[in-house]
Amino acid sequence: MQNAKGGVTLSSQGMNGQLFPPPGPPGMSGGPPPMVDWVIAPDESVPGPVARPPSTAGENLPQFGARIMETVNAGFIALSIAVGKETGLFRVLAGFEGQPKTSQEIADEAGLKERYVREWLGAMTTGRIVNMDATGKRFYLPPHRAIFLTTPGLGYELTILAAALPMQGKVFNHIIESFKLDGPKGVSYDHFGDFHHFMNECSLVWWERHLVQTFIPSIPGLKDMLESGISVLDLGCGEGGASLLMGQEFPNSSILGVDICNHATQAAQKGIAKHSLTNVKFLQMDAHDIPDDWEGRFKYILAWDSIHDMAHPNKILERVRKVLAPGGIMSVMEVNARSEIKDNMDMPFASTFYTNSMFHCMTVQLNAGGEGLGNMWGRERAEETLRDGGFNVETFPSPFEGSFNCHFLCKLKE
Ligand SMILES: C[S@@+](CC[C@H](N)C(=O)[O-])C[C@H]1O[C@@H](n2cnc3c(N)ncnc32)[C@H](O)[C@@H]1O
Repeated sequence: MQNAKGGVTLSSQGMNGQLFPPPGPPGMSGGPPPMVDWVIAPDESVPGPVARPPSTAGENLPQFGARIMETVNAGFIALSIAVGKETGLFRVLAGFEGQPKTSQEIADEAGLKERYVREWLGAMTTGRIVNMDATGKRFYLPPHRAIFLTTPGLGYELTILAAALPMQGKVFNHIIESFKLDGPKGVSYDHFGDFHHFMNECSLVWWERHLVQTFIPSIPGLKDMLESGISVLDLGCGEGGASLLMGQEFPNSSILGVDICNHATQAAQKGIAKHSLTNVKFLQMDAHDIPDDWEGRFKYILAWDSIHDMAHPNKILERVRKVLAPGGIMSVMEVNARSEIKDNMDMPFASTFYTNSMFHCMTVQLNAGGEGLGNMWGRERAEETLRDGGFNVETFPSPFEGSFNCHFLCKLKE
């Protein structure tokens, strides 16, 4: 429900009206909580940067031990958060609107086995995500947590991020082998299974709310060009969410999505049928092989989170230079990091991105014969690569809040 301030109001049960109330007795409600209005003002509607970990200066052994214990425990809580998202259990609990339910009632509503649901409730309740009532047999998700965990752009995307853990677990042994001096260079896309689906889901959280509404209008002249009709190349399109949205919004433009992975473009293809689009195409293609006869064809090229995965970005940029029409624009979206570890100490989620890079971006690029830029190659390195590739580059923070990316707006050097 929209409140007078334009934020979201949930008439619901809570503890004291704060958005994140201090924890009560561990995981217990201590009786029915009072009714309050949970008000999430617009400026609170996206998670702000998480606090920097506390200073470790003067830390002693027991303190370090406690921190590691907490970190490992948080990792397991995150894995169970991924379970809650994938099984739909968070949505089921949200649907109960804070009313305590038994594990059997929750399992029945979700269409799942009670024994598994009960164990998951154990993890989530001791992890202070789900609460239980005074009987210890009924469980509920307080409404502020329900809305956070199920609303795209508010916190749902963090449950998607948590789902990267089990996905990366699938390649764990390959990564360990790749660390070894006599091990393979890296891990190929074939081992990741559902990576492209995961990535499309991550990106769609933002694209559906911002690509057409915020991102495209932030680039001077682009919206007009798309409305009147231009050719667009979506480079490393994955399952094609961005192409499909642009195709629907700009029927006079034609959008071509290319990706090296066949299963990604096949999944993207289904979106064309679903939306009955005639102006969108997907091609399985290695971007290093973009053909010469596409010369000057595209007025806009979008490379969303893709350049750092490609084996030889400098060679890709040679191809891009050729196919970008005079006066054309390229948007390169990359993680908003710096190129040196020392400069990322205060970056929220830096450890998450370095780990994701080790388990995906860096290793797939190494496997393809690249140098393994990784998703944390950073602004300085990206700008240098784009400039050396023949582009004038302007760097902007993402035009919408909550994103981890920055935007390199590139135009051909005269
Ligand atoms: C991190 S994903 C981003 C996908 C999509 N743009 C998004 O933001 O959801 C990087 C994409 O680049 C694709 N890719 C990697 N190397 C490529 C290459 N040489 N040519 C074309 N696509 C490539 C991958 O298959 C993957 O879909």
